[in-house]
Amino acid sequence: MPHERIDKLIASQGTLTRSDARRLIKSGAVTVNGACVRDAGQKADPTTDQISVSGQPFLISKHIYLMLDKPAGIVSASRDPKRETVVDLVPAKFRRAGLFPAGRLDQDTTGFVLITDDGDFAHRILSPKKHISKTYLARLARPADDMLMDAFRAGVVLADGTRCMEAGLRILEGGEMPLAEVVLHEGKYHQIKRMFAALGNEVTALRRIKMGELSLDETLGPGGCRKITAEELALISQEQLEQDAGHTSQAGTP
Ligand code: URA
Repeated sequence: MPHERIDKLIASQGTLTRSDARRLIKSGAVTVNGACVRDAGQKADPTTDQISVSGQPFLISKHIYLMLDKPAGIVSASRDPKRETVVDLVPAKFRRAGLFPAGRLDQDTTGFVLITDDGDFAHRILSPKKHISKTYLARLARPADDMLMDAFRAGVVLADGTRCMEAGLRILEGGEMPLAEVVLHEGKYHQIKRMFAALGNEVTALRRIKMGELSLDETLGPGGCRKITAEELALISQEQLEQDAGHTSQAGTP
């Protein structure tokens, strides 16, 4: 990372605004290599300089990872000439160049969207070869039967003849309009809607609640967005690490 202004570096982590950072610097709370810095324009290199704020080491991460609870009606894209996108919903304090959603949800689907500027990470969690699970809640228009369970276990064949990978299915609420939990290990276009349609049912509402082992923070509420911590980030790729280590993943097993 090249040398950057110290106020810009501190504000780049999304917890403080640039003017908050400047105030903090003026107050004498910021040191670089042990020396107090009161000039917000002083430059530092976070890879080699030891920066601390209020006595605590200030660690700069190169990339940002955000969790957004996508409301219905918003498109999963970085920008769109007509419609509001998930990146438009990112609060100003987290904005930076190159943000994009790692994976798409349909416009009417709600829930967990991961927004980042880290292309390598997005590629890793989206690659069908890595089998990172995505968990959804689907409200169905018609009752569920055993045939649904068998078909999900065997791999649903879509109307166009495409065979899906084995997927998890659990009926959380039965009745006329059941609520199902679906666990996918791949991401085909409109996949869950097409899977149920191929089996004579219909999805009337869909929400993503989990990526890998990381659950959506339900306290965010529609449109809410926050940073994903390093520990949480590890939960997303945990399954893949287990598979790489030769363990059998239980994800997707009802
Ligand atoms: N499957 C769908 O049908 N839609 C989504 O948005 C995600 C998975």
